[in-house]
Amino acid sequence: MEILIRRSPEEVATTAADIISTHLKPGAVLGLATGSTPLATYQELIRRTKEGEISFAGTTAFCLDEYIGLPPEHDQSYHYVIRNEFTKHIDINDAYVHSPDGMNPRPWEAAEQYEKAIVSAGGIDIQLLGIGTNGHVGFNEPATSLRSLTRVETLHSQTVSDNSRFFDSVDDVPRYAITQGLGTILRSGQALLIATGKGKAQAIASLVEGPVTSQCPASVLQLHNNATVIVDEDAAFLLKESDYYRHVEEARPDWKGLDGRPKL
Ligand code: GLP
Repeated sequence: MEILIRRSPEEVATTAADIISTHLKPGAVLGLATGSTPLATYQELIRRTKEGEISFAGTTAFCLDEYIGLPPEHDQSYHYVIRNEFTKHIDINDAYVHSPDGMNPRPWEAAEQYEKAIVSAGGIDIQLLGIGTNGHVGFNEPATSLRSLTRVETLHSQTVSDNSRFFDSVDDVPRYAITQGLGTILRSGQALLIATGKGKAQAIASLVEGPVTSQCPASVLQLHNNATVIVDEDAAFLLKESDYYRHVEEARPDWKGLDGRPKL
């Protein structure tokens, strides 16, 4: 894993946008996350698109997850949120912005279809991720199989409580979701996890320096071939080896691209 420590949430967003931009070309498949953390990154990508620096033309996007039982037009469905916050402001074809069908009465089938759609698209080139305070990624809660594929997940009470800020009351938060699995995330070409604020420090310490364990689902990134974690100083404050991670970045070889691969 590559750990990039930034001074502020704004710098986290700039670096995340730099990395995502290296993947943009017709045919690229992007994995998009919801939650508040990616919003600044999306704002930066929108700005760059409007100024003509980058283009999402010809790209396809797959959302990480979706609540079960919220119709697409509900303002907290991820189908709606990803459009409202990001994709309707960039030059991606809306027909190529996918999310799991949370209204399918047979949600387990919707989950299987979604996994197949990702495979048919050629797999995800870059998967953007946030992290829950309990270490979840997507909606993969503690005790998720490290090889799980897209499926139905029961939300943890911590997640329901954390996400209740987006709803009128905690009782309105859906209890189930369809989420890409940890195995789905492991198949992505590059996994890019971003976190800001002290509230994420424990989850980040467990992800980066704890054991690989389904008790911290994000720790599966230790098994990813090409994972990048970008954090601000607050989210990094429990990392024991932060000096080393800074040194690794300063000593980055010239040949190594932001996408984690050798530059051609
Ligand atoms: C939700 C999403 C996750 C996201 C998490 C953290 O549970 N399913 O994908 O990472 O929230 O969100 P935030 O960035 O708002 O803290």
